Amino acid sequence: MERKGITIGGIIVFDYIKIVDTYPKVGRLANILNIEYSVGGAVPNTLIDLAKMDKSLSLQAIGVVGNDKLGEYVLKVLKENNINTEMVFQQNEVGTSFTDDMIVESTGERTFFHYRGANSLLDITHFDFDRINSKILHVGYPLLLEKLDSSDPDYGTVLAKTLATAQQKGIKTSLDLVSENSDRFSKIIPPSLKYTDYCTINEIEASLTTNIPIRDTEDKLIVDNIEPICFKLKEIGVKQWVIVHSPEGAFALDETNNFYIQPSFDLPKGYIKGTVGAGDAFCAGVLYSINKGWDISKALKVGTATATACLSKSGTTNGVKNIEIMMKLYREMNVKS
Ligand SMILES: Nc1ncnc2c1ncn2[C@@H]1O[C@H](COP(=O)(O)OP(=O)(O)O)[C@@H](O)[C@H]1O
Ligand SMILES: [Mg+2]
Repeated sequence: MERKGITIGGIIVFDYIKIVDTYPKVGRLANILNIEYSVGGAVPNTLIDLAKMDKSLSLQAIGVVGNDKLGEYVLKVLKENNINTEMVFQQNEVGTSFTDDMIVESTGERTFFHYRGANSLLDITHFDFDRINSKILHVGYPLLLEKLDSSDPDYGTVLAKTLATAQQKGIKTSLDLVSENSDRFSKIIPPSLKYTDYCTINEIEASLTTNIPIRDTEDKLIVDNIEPICFKLKEIGVKQWVIVHSPEGAFALDETNNFYIQPSFDLPKGYIKGTVGAGDAFCAGVLYSINKGWDISKALKVGTATATACLSKSGTTNGVKNIEIMMKLYREMNVKS
């Protein structure tokens, strides 16, 4: 069997975006002025970005949703983007995960209320390797996936075992994390990194996983620590590429430990309309490149272009366009000096 395309497993969320007139004190009332909704989470965001980059790509989702209206909506949107959903399981006992994203109209300040719901049921048994024909399996985000984060006697965590199984089947594995505020990174993530070929994460997650500081008290990048962080991630076990992205730029090690820096673009004032989904868009650019067999320096360019395109529109996937437009954006933008 010739493997092709990309499978993404993990978090699936339904996002309610609610504009409110004020953020109320406990026990008080605020008015909801407008409601929009969209799909969110690593699985829909990254897959839809990839579908937009190239609609001929073979794409597959793995996750768990509820047997409810939100779950139906997520499935419909994935199918509309030609994403294979045969491994998105609808379960009766819990609802589809959702987030109430409350945005105060006058200030743009956001507050999130998140329901974990069906995502907490995703387990190794949902990864049916007999039906995964793709070249790459990307997973996002451990730390939010209770069953996959739980411990396994042989591999450390259930996710580590899942990734190891994928590798044994000849599938390349890829990982993205979530910047939760916790000290769980260095316990839960390293077992999975041992079975990860490509690790594409932001600077905060890289720092929390390696226990090496990345920003000083004034929030400036500690430049001297970036290369050691990338090497530490390799030492922990990443096989091929380590990519650490940040608003300032992306930093990376390739398969033979050459170090790369890809500065961000110098964006005109007012360019950024929203940052949600930009990390997923970066991953989509990298996954696209891996699937094409491109080298890391091109992957960093494509990732930077897709993340930047995402910033140009509100919403998680609205800014990403087909690969020719993404490469044109790269050529036309100036990098930060
Ligand atoms: N102001 C900015 N300038 C340039 N790039 C940015 C900016 N803000 C975000 N990005 C890009 O988007 C990425 C966001 O990724 P991440 O923090 O993982 O967000 P997400 O929550 O979407 O996963 C950054 O690492 C960077 O690549
Ligand atoms: Mg991210």
